[in-house]
Amino acid sequence: MNSVITSGDSSLSTEGFMDIHVHILPGLDDGAKTERDAIAMANIAAKCGTAGVVATPHIDPSCLPPGCSQVEAVRRAVASLQESIDSYGISIQVMPGTEIAMAPGLVAYLTRGEVIPVSDSGKYVLVELPFQTIPSYVEEEIFSMAAHGYIPIIAHPERNAEVIRNPNILIPFLAAGALAHVNAGSLVGREGQRPQQTAEILLGHGLAHIIASDGHSATSRQPRLDRAFEIASRLVGEDEALKMVRDIPRAITLGEDVHVSEPEVYKARRKWWHFRRKESS
Ligand SMILES: [Fe+2]
Repeated sequence: MNSVITSGDSSLSTEGFMDIHVHILPGLDDGAKTERDAIAMANIAAKCGTAGVVATPHIDPSCLPPGCSQVEAVRRAVASLQESIDSYGISIQVMPGTEIAMAPGLVAYLTRGEVIPVSDSGKYVLVELPFQTIPSYVEEEIFSMAAHGYIPIIAHPERNAEVIRNPNILIPFLAAGALAHVNAGSLVGREGQRPQQTAEILLGHGLAHIIASDGHSATSRQPRLDRAFEIASRLVGEDEALKMVRDIPRAITLGEDVHVSEPEVYKARRKWWHFRRKESS
């Protein structure tokens, strides 16, 4: 697919964004409520230059009753939604996935097929941290997933209070094999100043590698990457920004290897009053 994204003063040629995190399946979580909502979301995404979305309903495997899984419901919902999207003539591909709440023993759920890796690629797994803390088991879980051939993608770390306090807290997770994505909404300021600043720090220091929408509806949390792409282009340059919204997520959906640069340690700028104190001491 070739499309031209035109917004503001810029006109940019792309092959279509790839959005690996969208709550587009109707009735499965806090995303689209109805098929009509889902079609409206697909329409917005396509109009804003997205060629494919991974449908990622929330799953907390630690809360699943034994032997119970939503996997077949997700796959059926994806097939049904794709049929409807096609019937409306909207040019966008929907792939299956899940956004998995980080919990001890995730590998067991993956090997039993009780959660779906990104686009069913079998390799990349979208995981969500709690918003306030980073539990002590997270690093071990990431090691364990990597040891079993899975690559966790940490969803929107810029919204986690500990990451906001210290973005370098992600470095051991990345060293253990994880990738990270920031939300488009964080970059455009929808989540407030601290997540926005943190998203910029993460992208600017190689502490996050992908931009995804985490879209939940056609109104308040839209599945679009175009505005965030423009902001990222100003931050890291257009070529790097295109990797974050197109090349890397596309490779992920295909289950291909992804090469990212080493993260750079973030050094917080000292506040001016520190210097004033130093001068006067
Ligand atoms: Fe999400």
